[in-house]
Parts: sequence; C-alpha cells; structure tokens
Amino acid sequence: MAARSQTMVVPTDAQLLKAQADLWRHSLYYLTSMALKCAVELGIPTAIHNLGGTTNLPDLVAALSLPANKLPHLRRLMRLLVTSGIFESGNNNLTGETYCLNPLSWLLVEGVEAEDHTYQKYFVLSTVSKHYVDASLTLADWFKKDLSPPLPSPFEELHGVPLLHEKTAELDEELDAIVREGVAAHDNLAMGTIIRECGEIFKGLQSLTDCSGADGTTARAIMKAYPHIKCNVLEQPQVVHTAPTDGLALDIFKFVPPAQAVLLKLVLHFWNDDDCVKILEQCRKAIPSREEGGKVIIIDTVLGPSLGPIMHEAQLLLDMLMFVNTHGRQRDENDFREIFTKAGFSDYKIVKKIGARGIIEVYP
Ligand SMILES: C[S@@+](CC[C@H](N)C(=O)[O-])C[C@H]1O[C@@H](n2cnc3c(N)ncnc32)[C@H](O)[C@@H]1O
Repeated sequence: MAARSQTMVVPTDAQLLKAQADLWRHSLYYLTSMALKCAVELGIPTAIHNLGGTTNLPDLVAALSLPANKLPHLRRLMRLLVTSGIFESGNNNLTGETYCLNPLSWLLVEGVEAEDHTYQKYFVLSTVSKHYVDASLTLADWFKKDLSPPLPSPFEELHGVPLLHEKTAELDEELDAIVREGVAAHDNLAMGTIIRECGEIFKGLQSLTDCSGADGTTARAIMKAYPHIKCNVLEQPQVVHTAPTDGLALDIFKFVPPAQAVLLKLVLHFWNDDDCVKILEQCRKAIPSREEGGKVIIIDTVLGPSLGPIMHEAQLLLDMLMFVNTHGRQRDENDFREIFTKAGFSDYKIVKKIGARGIIEVYP
C-alpha cells in the first residue's frame, strides 16, 4: 500500500513540546476566566484597594473572611491571575509575596470615585455566566444543524430567546439584569479618552442625535465637553426614560430625527449586515449634505492586526462573544465599507483608532 503523503514536515522535539504546552494553554484558558470570575465574586480587587493597594496573603485571607486553611489555594489562584496580567505581584522582605492592583484590576474595584473609572464587575459576570458558557458549548452542534435564515445565535437556539430582548428576562431575570449592566459597563468605558483624543469630531457641530444611546451617559459626556451641541438620545421606549431630558422614544429602523450629525456608538456590532444597512439608511436621511457638515459618526471595533496580536486577539474574542450570543459581529474596514456603500453613503474616513475601537466618519 502506498504511504500516505505527509501534510507537513514532522515537528522537531522542541516543536512538539511547545505544541503540547500550547495545547494545555488553549484547552485550559477557561480556568483563567473562572479564576477571574472567582476573584470578582470574592471581591479581591476591592479588598486589595481597601488594604491600601498592596497586601500579603494572610491579610487578604483575613479581609475576605476566608477560612485560614484556604490560604494555599488562594496563593495558587493569585499566582495564575498575576501571570495572566490581572494583578501585579511584588516581594516584601518582611511580609513575603505581595499583591497589588494594576489598571485592569482597578476597573474591578467597587466604589472608585474617578471620572474614567467604570466598574467592570458585571461585564465579567455576564461573559462567564452559565447561559453564555452553555451556549458556547453547543457550537459544534450549531454548525451541524440545518437552520434557516435569519440564523439564530447559539444562545437563542439553546435558550429559546434572544439576548438583550424583552423576553430575555422571562428566561432568567438575574441574567438579563447582569447582561444589561455588563453592556453598560463595557460601553461607557473610555468615553473620556475618546473626547480627549478625538474631540475634533464633535467640534463645530450644532446638533447631534445619539442613536440607541442607552441611558445617555455618552450624550452627557459630549454635552459636558461641548455645551453648545444640542444632543438628542434616541432609544427604545423601555430604556429612554433613563436618558437625559432630550430622550426620544423611537425605533432606529423607522426614523432618526434630523441633526447635523448622528452618532452610532457600539450599536452596529449588535446587528447583522442587512439590519446595519437599514439603520444607516435612516441615519443618512437624518443628516444634511457633507458640505453642510452632515456626517454619521461611528464608534465601534474595527477588526485588524495593525494594533498588535494582543489587541487583535481581544477583538476576535469580542467577535466570538457576538457570534455565540447575538446576531451581530465585529467588522473590519472592508465590512464597514460594504455596508456604507449599500446604505448609499459616498465616502468615509477612519479618523482614529483608540484601543481596539475605531472612530469613523461617514459622509452622505
Ligand atoms: C449596545 S447598546 C448601545 C450602547 C450605547 N450606544 C452606548 O455607547 O452606551 C444597544 C442599544 O440599542 C438599543 N436598541 C435596540 N433596538 C433598538 C431599536 N429598534 N431602536 C432604538 N434603539 C434600540 C437598546 O435598547 C440598547 O440600549
């Protein structure tokens, strides 16, 4: 019998050992997520903050009111979280190994009074919730099933209701509340940075409609920085009462009130391409010509490797999060260009990339 052709050169010993270690890492990364969940549930970041920002293990065990015999296990948990970049560690000659906060764990401290602090506890708890994890466990079955369009997300196929929908609370009220808080925490982070680094997109505007602007946090930040801009928030009726005074209960698919510019911040990634085109068409109708300053401002993930492998990996994980749980997706520049063209826009410009997100102006 003829030997089967090799699909690749047999790896070297060193490559095989590295391959096995990588396999361990990728198979076991869920334990990093669960260790993070555990740290959040125990309140470890807040405890370290309350202990003055640095602590040793015995003090941490006492602050968390854990049984003393759990100290060695807490050491193992903290060791993984330090190696994963969630805490920092140091050494003190007298007290031994110490742990302190870094920018990531600072975001998990409850009750910090700082303009740029947005408490991320519920983002973590929603992404590692049983409902999300169960949905991700069905991925292979979801691929094999012959589902008819519009394709339900694995979440919807498993749980029978879409996420962030009026029916989600019927599935599980606590999940619905955690997810809504988690989305708000995710969406509100970095608005200060956007205004500081990219304020020119708002300068010179007379009026702005923030479409699907949630509780109006973004609109309030813009109005604080640029008090001359008349800012409306368009939202669903059940959300609009939480927005500032100019909240408008409207369906984004049916009508966007006229303004010089329309803002879509972290909105398009929640919708499929056809829905994005419908939304963008309504936005185009709402704005004047380019010469009169008409534009749609989009703040959303713009997928791409240019920001380095860590940011890119974070973007791709966010895309999987949308895939498993929603009808949305993260898009690269080509994907955006396609929906802009279909919605009848003539041009666009990526004004800046801020972290994993891009700021795009789209012109009629
Ligand atoms: C991801 S959140 C948007 C976040 C917000 N732009 C921000 O940056 O904080 C998506 C929002 O879309 C709103 N939404 C969903 N369907 C809508 C519709 N048909 N018309 C208007 N808003 C809608 C939801 O209520 C939700 O607040």
